[in-house]
Amino acid sequence: MRGRGPAPPPGPDPFADGLPPLDGDRVRLRAPRPADAADVLAVFGDAGHLRYWSHGPLADLDAARAYVDGIGAGWRERRLFQWAVTEPPDDRLVGTVTLVDWDREHRRAEVGFILHPAYAGRGLATDAVRTALRFAVGAMDLHRVEADVDPENAASLRLLERLGFRREGVLRERWFTFGTWKDSVVLGLLAADLAGGADAGGAG
Ligand SMILES: CC(C)(COP(=O)(O)OP(=O)(O)OC[C@H]1O[C@@H](n2cnc3c(N)ncnc32)[C@H](O)[C@@H]1OP(=O)(O)O)[C@@H](O)C(=O)NCCC(=O)NCCS
Repeated sequence: MRGRGPAPPPGPDPFADGLPPLDGDRVRLRAPRPADAADVLAVFGDAGHLRYWSHGPLADLDAARAYVDGIGAGWRERRLFQWAVTEPPDDRLVGTVTLVDWDREHRRAEVGFILHPAYAGRGLATDAVRTALRFAVGAMDLHRVEADVDPENAASLRLLERLGFRREGVLRERWFTFGTWKDSVVLGLLAADLAGGADAGGAG
């Protein structure tokens, strides 16, 4: 086991101006806001859609508002970068893409993503994740990005492998969700693996 003592003090904050909006080929990523709560509920409110997620569905609009507040709190601690996925010119939230557990010393984080089912199957999630990864290996200067996926989540595994992730192993019974233990497939992407390379900054 590697040491897990107190972390060294972080260096200067490169993101003091806020979570930067990012433009993909077809999506725009922006900071979630309180007015997104109803759309957040539409994305995170269905148990079937969340069957491979790390928690159960949001119960109601109040839970969705609290969820949006939690995104802001995670951002203030620089623990959670979670963007709303939008499809311009529409500014409506249709999913989210996340970088979490940012380790500045070892230059790694974990990626997560979800899209409203009505927007699936067109490559929007792939574009959103690729855009976040370019930011991760560009502006955040990450060396490695990890993903933790249910072995039965074929769409998610396809998406990640399309972007250059490699399967690195299986962790047994890592999550207790929906009353049952679920394994994790752990995937990793090194900065050099990302097709098309990095994007140094935000979209302004
Ligand atoms: C994971 C999830 C975001 C994937 O959604 P998706 O619709 O498969 O992903 P995309 O929007 O990138 O669309 C990819 C599909 O569009 C097709 N496609 C069409 N045009 C495309 C393009 N320009 N680029 C990429 N794919 C394109 C692909 O062939 C692919 O179809 P396939 O699944 O038959 O291979 C979605 O299933 C989801 O929200 N699941 C619930 C949450 C979840 O489990 N998240 C992952 C946790 S690890």
